[in-house]
Amino acid sequence: MNFLRPSIQSKSISTIQTLKRTFTQTSRLHNSTDTRRQLAGKHCIITGASRGIGAEIARRFAREGARCLLIGRNESLLEHVKEGLEKAEGGEHRVLVGDIGDGEFWALLKKEKHVDILVNVAGITHYSPLFVTSPSLLEEVVRTNLVGTMMACRTVGRNMMAVKGGCIINVASLLGVKGGRGSAAYAASKAGVIGLTRALASELGEKNVRVNVLVPGYIETDMTEAMTPEARSEALNSVPLKRFGQAAEIADAAVFLAANQYANNCVLNLDGGLSAT
Ligand SMILES: NC(=O)c1ccc[n+]([C@@H]2O[C@H](COP(=O)([O-])OP(=O)(O)OC[C@H]3O[C@@H](n4cnc5c(N)ncnc54)[C@H](OP(=O)(O)O)[C@@H]3O)[C@@H](O)[C@H]2O)c1
Repeated sequence: MNFLRPSIQSKSISTIQTLKRTFTQTSRLHNSTDTRRQLAGKHCIITGASRGIGAEIARRFAREGARCLLIGRNESLLEHVKEGLEKAEGGEHRVLVGDIGDGEFWALLKKEKHVDILVNVAGITHYSPLFVTSPSLLEEVVRTNLVGTMMACRTVGRNMMAVKGGCIINVASLLGVKGGRGSAAYAASKAGVIGLTRALASELGEKNVRVNVLVPGYIETDMTEAMTPEARSEALNSVPLKRFGQAAEIADAAVFLAANQYANNCVLNLDGGLSAT
């Protein structure tokens, strides 16, 4: 049964045709947006790219058309990630083996003159109260997480400033904001990464180098795999969304920070709401 007056009916037919046309055009537009690669031709350096969040960021960046230089200490894992990128996405990617906490390692990176995006993911953790953590472990955590990130920003950021453009994404942790039992050195190092990001967003911003930081809560990787079952279930219970995040969800946020040209000094929580508790 038709309830429309003839004039409205004919109008509605033409409206439907217009809508159909608009829909087709819009879907074409969406399709072209979907297939547009947001990081096409960008040269990226990703530390900690052999596993976990860093490997996932590399996969996502490659899917967006970036060429990646993958850094870590384990050559076979890095090669495995690189082969995966080349198989899935094509493109040329490279591997560099080294310890990011070693100042001499960064001297090797001085020759990378045209880096569009640096993602500082590499990090280590510990689960022990300050007074029973060895001084050498305390030092190693701060050297890797904070000094390593600072050295990376210093070396690669200098080259980015020289060409007046670039983007640095650091990876901190919610523990750096909230603290947490048994994470003294880790929390201190990650609080330092947030402070470093804020200082650099101001120092490098005027040279068109954007600096942002991701602040994840608990994410499913080897790092959370190492938690005791008790610690894991306590942590899961404390997250409002009642699950840990996925590395792919962090990688999505990294693409956003890399692509959004007004993002500078973003401190982006991805913690399932844990920071609100
Ligand atoms: N997973 C979480 O719940 C979580 C939460 C908040 C923040 N984060 C942060 O996110 C980042 C990635 O964590 P993840 O969970 O992916 O950890 P993961 O699976 O343990 O991976 C750590 C990565 O860092 C690399 N790495 C560690 N020390 C290094 C060094 N001295 N030099 C070069 N590479 C080094 C490791 O590579 P090799 O071992 O091969 O060298 C590996 O690729 C870390 O900074 C972590 O603090 C993680």
